[in-house]
Amino acid sequence: LKIAVLFGGTSQERDVSIASGTQVIKALRELGHTVISVDTARGPLDAAAEDKLFATSVGDIPPDNAALAALGHDLHQAISSPLLSDIDVCFLALHGGTGEDGTIQAILSAAGFAFTGSLQLPSGLALDKDLSKRLFTVAGIPTPSWTMVPPNIQDLKLPSAFPIVIKPNFQGSTVGLSVVRNEQELFAAVELARQYGAEILLEEYIPGRELSVGVLDNQALSVGEIFLESDIIFDYETKYSGAAKEKFPADIPAAIEQEAKRLAVAVHQALKLKGYSRSDFRLDKDGQLWCLEVNTLPGMTKTSLFPQSAAAAGIDFSSLCEKICLLALE
Ligand code: DAL
Ligand code: MG
Repeated sequence: LKIAVLFGGTSQERDVSIASGTQVIKALRELGHTVISVDTARGPLDAAAEDKLFATSVGDIPPDNAALAALGHDLHQAISSPLLSDIDVCFLALHGGTGEDGTIQAILSAAGFAFTGSLQLPSGLALDKDLSKRLFTVAGIPTPSWTMVPPNIQDLKLPSAFPIVIKPNFQGSTVGLSVVRNEQELFAAVELARQYGAEILLEEYIPGRELSVGVLDNQALSVGEIFLESDIIFDYETKYSGAAKEKFPADIPAAIEQEAKRLAVAVHQALKLKGYSRSDFRLDKDGQLWCLEVNTLPGMTKTSLFPQSAAAAGIDFSSLCEKICLLALE
């Protein structure tokens, strides 16, 4: 196949996307596919520019807003190069922002490109935590109770119990997320979240274990557990510093494993997702699963959760990248 791998971009998750893109590009080339690498903040990359990006690692946590804005951002221009005129499919190794919220999906659809993963509307719904939780509820998928923080913080009805979770409504990788243990911490957490978006979610904190399940072609892959050593959340720094430990398959009773798989497929279908997704859950002490969110463009390094979920189900990283491309062409 001739594949354009789109990565980078200008979201808070640019660094993560560069890591995903680098590994996807290498894997697809190893299989003999022709790959054009496209940083959506710049356009197609030549070999030297590629080498430079490939050598970067996840850096500032999260990246500086001003530095991201300075990158410039013309998605139309990034995909209008004649180099892309005869490609078969665009592989989206983007995370967050206009790469995951339906914008690039709409532009690619309008330009007639096939692309991996979900279409425009489901992508936007999945990145909007409030809307996706409403759909989970309608579909009977348990999700922690939540409310939106009003624009004027003085209007916020204080939660009756702590801890609670404060997070921006449209971010991934736990950017701007805080677990709030008391009223004093609440306002600072809202201030922090506001740096990453106007809409803020206040969510019930579910004590328990953290599980993650990949879905590929409407089938659940392996259920994994994430172990959090130092804190009670799987935050940005833990995710990308290598400090987190995961185990696929998770050491959980078979009935819970089956239920996690069933719910992950139910989430995928409730939001009409396509190709692949990864759903994240809390497992409470009573054995009840709670869906925190679904990721339509989950991290795609070899050690990211989704590729680990696939590997434990017998699908190696290169085959996974190729399968994701083939699903886009069905
Ligand atoms: N948003 C990050 C990349 C993930 O879901 O894996
Ligand atoms: Mg996410």
